[in-house]
Amino acid sequence: MFSSRAPGTLEPNHLTRVLRRLREGGRPLLDLTVTNPTDVGIEYPFSILDALADRRSLRYHPVPLGMLDAREAIARDCARNGIKVAADRVVLTSSTSEAYSVLFKLLCAPAGDAVMVPVPSYPLFEYLTSLDGVRSIAYRLEFHGRWGVDFDTLDDGWNDSVRAVLAVSPNNPTGSVLTDSEVNALMQRCATREAALILDEVFVDYALTDARPPLSPGRDCLTFRLGGLSKSAGLPQVKLGWIIVDGPEPLVRAALERLELICDTYLSVSTPVQHAVPALLSAGAAVRAEILDRIRTNERALRHTAKDYRSIEVLPVDAGWSSVLRVPSTRPEEEIAIELLERAGVVVHPGFFFDFPHEAFLVVSLLPPPAVFAEGIRRVMELAHA
Ligand SMILES: Cc1ncc(COP(=O)(O)O)c(C=O)c1O
Repeated sequence: MFSSRAPGTLEPNHLTRVLRRLREGGRPLLDLTVTNPTDVGIEYPFSILDALADRRSLRYHPVPLGMLDAREAIARDCARNGIKVAADRVVLTSSTSEAYSVLFKLLCAPAGDAVMVPVPSYPLFEYLTSLDGVRSIAYRLEFHGRWGVDFDTLDDGWNDSVRAVLAVSPNNPTGSVLTDSEVNALMQRCATREAALILDEVFVDYALTDARPPLSPGRDCLTFRLGGLSKSAGLPQVKLGWIIVDGPEPLVRAALERLELICDTYLSVSTPVQHAVPALLSAGAAVRAEILDRIRTNERALRHTAKDYRSIEVLPVDAGWSSVLRVPSTRPEEEIAIELLERAGVVVHPGFFFDFPHEAFLVVSLLPPPAVFAEGIRRVMELAHA
């Protein structure tokens, strides 16, 4: 009856079942997996959503790639991060997740085309690809003091069906930023093998170190850079993402023509949000500053607590909303995560959720309120150390 785009079985995994049982039983839990900024006590400016009630939105005049004022505001905002872009190269979507779907429709034929996907990285790639009928081929990031692209796995996995390489910088959950030479090596491969580069930069505003993603990664191959309000203004409920198209001029023009047709078919970005973009981006600065302060506070607390637990390593984080702990692999990650839930009342993600290369890793969000985070981390270290 149903297509193979959605998984055959929708049974929750063991950890999720335990979590549900505890929540239904009313057990108080310290949640170190929360990544919803509207749920962690961030103060939003009182009038931040007022611009959504602009009366101009009573009229509907759809523009497939997005209204020019909104695209100009995004282009100006990109300059804040040193990214130079012309407004006519900005394409609006209702979220970054939707941007992936639009790009898969642009680049991949349904009968067997593939994209290369980094691992460990954003777990939703599994669904984002399969729901669009696209095959994913993994390439690995390896940890050698920092997370870097393992180009052997990229080259070994690459075949004629590959239409694009996905790269996430800063990456979720490793918090690693691609170096200039890594981006150039990805571009060079894409250029010579007629594939596009999709560069997900949703966490670009949340630097914890001086490492910065490359600002202008060159023009060798067709490139799509992704961003969105859900991270840059802490407003996931407002639903706005964008794609910046760059690369060799004829390819950019051909891509924009086709993107216009795809976006025109759905017209998914609401008129109120487009009118509100300039105001949302400027009010979002205060939210962004608060989130940045939160992740820096929690990251400092994490490193401070870890000093008392020598067997636990807090991996370096350049940017983003999460942190990775390497803990003694005295038992499987799933067991550690379940014990943390049942005995310590703390929710963490085990590394296998993100397909880490081996055990044992735990992933924690840096967003929880500082008191919750500090107590949760103390309990994690107490239980997981050897
Ligand atoms: C790396 C990465 N890309 C994209 C997204 C999705 O963003 P959006 O809310 O704009 O769909 C997320 C969400 O956490 C993410 O971690």
